[in-house]
Amino acid sequence: MTVSLHREPLALAVFASGAGSNFAAICRAIDEGELQARIAVCISDRPSAGVLTLARERGISTEVISHRGEDDEVGRSILEALDRYAANFVALAGYLRKIPEVVVDAFENRMVNIHPSLLPAFGGKGMYGRRVHEAVLASGDRVSGATVHLVDNTYDTGPVVLQQSVDVSPDDTADALAARVLQVEHTLYPAALQLFASGRVVIDGRRITIRDDNTA
Ligand code: GRF
Repeated sequence: MTVSLHREPLALAVFASGAGSNFAAICRAIDEGELQARIAVCISDRPSAGVLTLARERGISTEVISHRGEDDEVGRSILEALDRYAANFVALAGYLRKIPEVVVDAFENRMVNIHPSLLPAFGGKGMYGRRVHEAVLASGDRVSGATVHLVDNTYDTGPVVLQQSVDVSPDDTADALAARVLQVEHTLYPAALQLFASGRVVIDGRRITIRDDNTA
């Protein structure tokens, strides 16, 4: 059994390729004292990503890391950046690149992702953004949601840390469902990170349990 007790204060590296609304939600939770962490660095693969502007406005360090080149080489650049900013935990928040294995291995049990469905449903390569919600609607499922999971070496298959469901209505559109799921993500992700920050996440293979909060 592995017990993930995060004794060091959480120094997050947030990876994002897009607008960064989850990044903003994490910042807000830190500001409001709901998440005991600091953001060591915001990393993107795209120089024009909106998230970089959000980070700079807050005085948070940013890095753009290109994914051109061999996986190992990209991995080394990422590990160097994580080391330079003394990040001890990685949160993927809309990062559209696969994280090189060398990084996943180095951050085993210390790297999470958020996905806009109830995994293992509607995950995997190519399942991101609007496509996820279109597939949910096409399936006729009545429930969707968001998942925070540990990252392993394949897309969206790591053990689940937290999930929250969102009802799907018969007249939903992909955009409407996406907006409701995103709303849920904005509280779910900081809450999941706080579980790590407070050392409450217990990892036993694929089974993750949450210890009681004895500080309450
Ligand atoms: C979110 O829906 C997240 O679940 C997915 O990518 C999206 C990122 O959105 N992995 P944002 O950039 O945080 O607004």
